[in-house]
Amino acid sequence: MVILGIDTSCDDTSASVVEEGVTVRSNIVSSQEIIHRRFGGIVPELASRRHVEMIWSVVDEALRSAHITLEDLSAVAVCHGPGLIGSLLVGCSFAKALCFSKGIPLVSVNHLEGHVFSSFLKNFPEGTCGGDEVSPIRALEFPFISLIVSGGHTSLYRIDGFGKYRELGRTKDDAAGEAYDKVSKLLGLGYPGGPVIDRLACSGNPNAVVFPRAYLPEGLDFSFSGLKTAVMNHLKEPHPHGINDIAASFQQAVIDVLVRKTEWAVTREGIHRVTVSGGVGANSALRKELALVAKEKGVQLSIPAASLCTDNAAMIAAAGYHHVKAHKLAPMDMNPVAYLPLS
Ligand code: KG4
Ligand code: ZN
Repeated sequence: MVILGIDTSCDDTSASVVEEGVTVRSNIVSSQEIIHRRFGGIVPELASRRHVEMIWSVVDEALRSAHITLEDLSAVAVCHGPGLIGSLLVGCSFAKALCFSKGIPLVSVNHLEGHVFSSFLKNFPEGTCGGDEVSPIRALEFPFISLIVSGGHTSLYRIDGFGKYRELGRTKDDAAGEAYDKVSKLLGLGYPGGPVIDRLACSGNPNAVVFPRAYLPEGLDFSFSGLKTAVMNHLKEPHPHGINDIAASFQQAVIDVLVRKTEWAVTREGIHRVTVSGGVGANSALRKELALVAKEKGVQLSIPAASLCTDNAAMIAAAGYHHVKAHKLAPMDMNPVAYLPLS
């Protein structure tokens, strides 16, 4: 089964061709970073306009790179939420038009479901992303614990099978990626914050400043807004720390909470398989620390290559494969939804 995935949920226009839900034959992502950087965050109207400009060439490039034509497609899978409504509309309208005109089956995929199924993708051979040291040799099986940690979401799910998702915890305020982006802005490092903080932290001392960790002992929820405020307050006062030390100390506080809560979820649910996805899943220190803890605790850990952690359409095609197998096709009057929980 060959599926074309399309994701325009936020600021990246992406199209991908995936075979049998696991083999990535192409994965094209057109980033809008340069457009939004000067605003310090995503401007929704600019994002949707850019999707309109890029969608056809991105899809065309995905088909060409996979050496196929529209006639070879078994289905088109498009992300219909959650996300920015104007951005989602572009991908959904395009996918519907394509499927209607060519008589191709259409499926609609929740963006978070896409992140969950990104762990089934065989690592895309593109080099230095660090996915290999943590990717499982064994194929991933249900049930597993899924940590989704991105710019818009920070949640833990129990995944018992396709369509069987239970939320175990979620952020009460900022997502972890949002905290990275806000702290980056405070440090004058621009948008997006994750990659630059990741890089600076490599040569910083993670124990230079002890920022607070919101463990919220009553459950598996998260909170990162206090951490961001603590960094802001620290920067207001005179202090001897360099930017690398602050980046490393902030990052350590985020990682400690993410790792500890994931461990709690493993223990509570008695499930020794964990997947991690979402943009923050690309973080080099988080990947290393999770790999260490997983080894220590005998947990099977699966984190996709960094390029499949950040938003991409391969993950939408991977989840779409299960929709098609379950005969869950989308009607032509399907509409995108900005708020769309997974459970
Ligand atoms: O999954 P994603 O591409 O989009 C959403 O669905 O939100 O995640 C984007 C987020 C941004 O907040 C970005 O700063 C963060 O992921 N990010 C990282 C890294 N790369 C991207 N955070 C930490 N370390 C990274 N290497
Ligand atoms: Zn995402």
